Amino acid sequence: MKQSVRHYLQVADLDRETLLSLLDRAMELKRMQKEGKMYTPASGKVLGMLFEKASTRTRVSFEAAMFRLGGNVSFMARRDLQLDRGEPLKDTARVLSRYLDCLVVRTFGQSVVEELARWSDIPVINGLTDSHHPCQILSDVMTVMEAKGRDLSGLKVAWVGDGNNMAQSWIQAAAKLGFPLYLACPKGYEPDDEILSRARSEAGFPIEVMEDPVAAVKDADVINTDVWASMGQEEEAEERKKVFMPFQVNDALLKHAKPDCIVLHCLPAHRGEEITEEVLEGPHSVAWDQAENKMHIHKAVLEWAMRLRD
Ligand code: CP
Ligand code: NVA
Repeated sequence: MKQSVRHYLQVADLDRETLLSLLDRAMELKRMQKEGKMYTPASGKVLGMLFEKASTRTRVSFEAAMFRLGGNVSFMARRDLQLDRGEPLKDTARVLSRYLDCLVVRTFGQSVVEELARWSDIPVINGLTDSHHPCQILSDVMTVMEAKGRDLSGLKVAWVGDGNNMAQSWIQAAAKLGFPLYLACPKGYEPDDEILSRARSEAGFPIEVMEDPVAAVKDADVINTDVWASMGQEEEAEERKKVFMPFQVNDALLKHAKPDCIVLHCLPAHRGEEITEEVLEGPHSVAWDQAENKMHIHKAVLEWAMRLRD
C-alpha cells in the first residue's frame, strides 16, 4: 500500500505525539552534531526550496540541515520560475515532485501551500505563510524546553504584539502541546477567530487574547514578540508603529514577568520597535539559541517528512 505523504502546513496538521517526537529528535540531532558525529541519511536526496519572500534564517538553516544530513538543495526564487509567468501551481507541483524528494515553500497565502501539497507526491513543508510559521514554532518550543524543561504545562507563555502568523502558530502549539498562552494584541490586530476557536476547543489550558501587555506578561515564564509589520505589510508599517508602541517588549514590561523569564524573538528584530536593544541583547533573551535551533528542528522535520529513519 502506498504510504501517505507527510506534509507539514500548519502546527494543527500534526498530533501531539508527532510534535513531541520532532522536538526530542531535534535535541538528539543537536547533541550528535555537537559531538561531531556524521549522520548522512539524506545522501542522494534533493530538497527543493521555493521562496517568494525574503529569508535569512529559514533558508540557510534548511539548506544547512539538508547538507549536513548528506543531501542536496535546489533553491528557487518564485520570480525565476515559470510560475511567475502564469504556470499553474498544480503543474508546478507535479513536475517538481518528479525531480525532488521534499519541498519547502515560503509564500503569501496559506492556499498556495495547500494547493501545492494537494498536487504533490512529495512532502510540502510550510517555511512561512501569511497565516502560519509552523517550523519556527517548533524551534521556539525547543528553545523553551532547553531553558525550562520538557514539561510545558506549568509555564505561563505570553505573546506581545501582532496577532500574526507567528502568534497563530503559537496558538496551535499551545492547544496541541498543552500550555497556557496569553496574547496581548492591539484592537483590530488580533489573531484569526477561527484559528482561535478551533484551538480553544481542543486546548486543556487557557488561550486568552487581551489588550493589556502588562496583564499578559504578569508572572510569565516565556515572553514572545515579533515585528509589527510582517512581510507584505510594508505599506502599513508607519501606521502600525503608532498603534503598537504600547506593546514594546522593554525592561519596564519585563518587570511584571517572573525574574527568570526568557524572551523569544524569531528575528529579524526591529530594535526600538517591538523590542529594545537592552532586552534583545540582555540576560533574558534566548533569540540566538532560538535561531540556531531552527537548523536542528529542520533536520528533524526533513528526516520525518522524507521518512529517513522509517
Ligand atoms: N525567523 C525567520 O523565519 O527568519 P527568516 O525570515 O530570516 O527566515
Ligand atoms: N511575522 C514575520 C515573521 C518573520 C520571520 C513575517 O511574516 O514577516
